[in-house]
Amino acid sequence: MAGSANLNVMMKTARKAGRALLKDFSEVEQLQVSSKGPGDFVSRADKMAEKTIREALKEARPTYGFLGEEDGAVEGEDPTRRWIVDPLDGTTNFLHGLPHWAVSIALEHKGQIVAGVVYDPVKDEMFYAEKGTGAFMNETRLRVSARSKMIESIFATGVPFAGQATLPATLQDLARLMPECAGVRRFGAAALDLAYVAAGRYEGYWERGLHAWDIAAGVLIVTEAGGFVASIREGQRPLEHGDVIAANSEIFERFSKVIRNQI
Ligand code: IPD
Repeated sequence: MAGSANLNVMMKTARKAGRALLKDFSEVEQLQVSSKGPGDFVSRADKMAEKTIREALKEARPTYGFLGEEDGAVEGEDPTRRWIVDPLDGTTNFLHGLPHWAVSIALEHKGQIVAGVVYDPVKDEMFYAEKGTGAFMNETRLRVSARSKMIESIFATGVPFAGQATLPATLQDLARLMPECAGVRRFGAAALDLAYVAAGRYEGYWERGLHAWDIAAGVLIVTEAGGFVASIREGQRPLEHGDVIAANSEIFERFSKVIRNQI
């Protein structure tokens, strides 16, 4: 699909960062067996990827602002537009040599996400969407799945790691959801979880305790693929409150009731 100039900048930048990360990833696989482990190396790779992305976007669109996982927020001359970037979503997977992570770049205009790109360099899958023009993976148009029965549906989530305040709520979610569905997956990259809902690979995804950069691109990709996205806390905005429910339109009502404990 021929996208806007901004979308092309985003895809080109995601590929550039993805190529560098892929090279680093092959090193990480070697470092697993070293006594020091790959921790410092990965945090350098993550920071370098954000720098690459920040510089490429700045060169292409000098006036836009920037919000990134590593460096926080930078105001642009144009206060209505900013990039929201996670250079490496799925850092823990990357650290452990698990080939499931992505680069996520979104463009926000006047508080709305208008374009989003989630790029998985390992599988060379580029998920992208622009507001009003549909969602795609490489050349293929994306549609959420058509499954409407909970018992035939699979869902994904993020299970908080040690010390995170959202662990008890997530365990309660799982206790309510698991008896009703065909399975729950935890693959470890929120941006890809949303992209996979858009691609119909799973029926729904929810998670608590997220950041805007984890989900900004993915939420647009889901809605442009015909899915529904909302905050777990009704009436709030996922990007502001860091929790999200996304699903195909058939399953959304029941799934959101289960997650919101309204059954
Ligand atoms: C993390 C991943 C993970 C999710 C965490 C996120 P990061 O992002 O998306 O799937 O469960 O909540 O923080 O730290 O790898 O960019």
